This record gives sequence, C-alpha cells and structure tokens, in this order.
Amino acid sequence: MPSHALIEWAAAKGRDLPWRHTRDPWAILVSEVMLQQTQVARVVPVWRAFLDCFPTPTACAAAPQADVVVAWHGMGYNRRAVNLHRCAVAIADDHGGAVPDDLDALLALPGIGPYTARAVLAFAFERRVGVLDVNAMRVHARLCGRAVDQRAADAATPEAAPWAWNQAILDLGATVCTKRSPRCGECPLMGECAWRGTGPDPAGGGARQSRFEGSDRQGRGRLVDALRAGAVSARPSDLAVTMGWPGDPERSLRVAMSVVTDGLAKWADDSETICLR
Ligand code: ADE
Repeated sequence: MPSHALIEWAAAKGRDLPWRHTRDPWAILVSEVMLQQTQVARVVPVWRAFLDCFPTPTACAAAPQADVVVAWHGMGYNRRAVNLHRCAVAIADDHGGAVPDDLDALLALPGIGPYTARAVLAFAFERRVGVLDVNAMRVHARLCGRAVDQRAADAATPEAAPWAWNQAILDLGATVCTKRSPRCGECPLMGECAWRGTGPDPAGGGARQSRFEGSDRQGRGRLVDALRAGAVSARPSDLAVTMGWPGDPERSLRVAMSVVTDGLAKWADDSETICLR
C-alpha cells in the first residue's frame, strides 16, 4: 500500500489535534479513552483541563475517584472516568507511575481494551501496530474489498512511519472515507482502492459471499476463538474488532450476549470482560 501518498495527504489535509503534539503516554492514554465514545470537538477542552488537574498517572491515582468523575464532566459514559482512575492506580502501584509500553501489560490495565492498548503503543511509543477502531476498519475494508482483522491491519502499517500512518488512516476515515457519502474523488488511495465507492460496500456487510461469510455464526466463532486465548473486552467497539464486523458494534454486542446466554461464556467479575465459562 502506498503509505507515502496517504501520509502526504494527511500532512496537508489532516486534522491538527492537540494530542498529536505530544508523545506523553498518559496524555495519549487519556485522549484515547475520551475519544472512544465522545466526538473530537467535545474531547479537546476536557482533555486539556483533565491533564491540568491530573498531569500524571500518580497525580490521578492520588486523587479521590469523585474528583476524576467531576473532571470528566461533558464526556458522558462516566464509567470510563472510574476505570481511568482505577487504571491510574494500577499504573502507580504496579508500574512505578509509568504507562507500560507493552501490549499485554496495557491490556491488563482496567478499562484498557485492544483498541486503546494499540493506540497507546502507536501514538505514544510509535510502535508498529495497526490502530483499528470502527473508522479504521471501514477504511481497510474498502481498500482491501473485505473485512480485515488485527493481523492484517498490523501488516499494512509501514515500519518507517507507524505513528503518521495510523493518524492518517483515522483522518481519512473521519473526513473522506466516511460511512455515508464518502468523497472518493479526494482520496489519496483512490488508485489502490478495491471499492472506489461503487458496488456493495465491503465495510457495510453488503453482498454475502456464503451462508457463513458475514453470518452471526462467523462472528460467534471469532469471539470464541479469541476467548480461548483469554478474557475479551466487552466494550461494543472492542467486540466489533474481535468479531470482525466493521461499523457494527451493536450487532457485535447482541451476538456476544447470545454467546453468554447460551452458556459458552460468562461475564467476568469486573463486568468489563467476557471469558469462557
Ligand atoms: N479517534 C481515536 N483516536 C484518535 C486520534 N488519535 N485522533 C483523532 N481521532 C481519534
């Protein structure tokens, strides 16, 4: 994939967002938790104010949980504030106050799922991992003509510029390769795109290739495969990645719940994750 065309496009047309001017892992982690379920424009002022109050994980850990929830005002989904506080406590207690730069250690932190862990690795530590949120999944699916998994997104990420590449994919998904009415004429990857805006949208669960391809059963299978390796984040956006359904967190949650109802899996004690029964 021609990464330079995308990265050049992003340098000229990408968004200038404040968390792109830092590599401070705590600042990046906070931004990514906020961006999970809240729009960029709402996140910017709260992110700045939050970091003024809690500039480090240790400062956040030392504060009462209630103060963190207060600083979260305007973000919604307040459980994230509670989790972020717990996360800060774990970083202070178990990692000497430094955000870990290791995937497994990040995933072990409260409230940190596969998306956020990889976003911290890519955007704070400039590691070569694919950052795969719902928007990035849509961009990749259209480019390749089929849904992609984490491994494919990792492989597509260029060795030389993982930070710029991942930010550019997020910008492309937010501004050009939008879910509805994509502006393919403005896309730097139009020449390599499998979809090009015509025919069934590979990101939209369009034409079924087989009874299994795109079926609930396929998503269930992917979830159970992931569960075999350990607990899985139950956040709908994370489930969408795990289950391979770009753009459909609702369906992912519904089908994951059926795996629990069927007795295959259960909610873990923290109710943030699902594990095999
Ligand atoms: N959404 C999630 N992460 C983002 C980032 N780093 N920049 C813009 N939007 C995002």
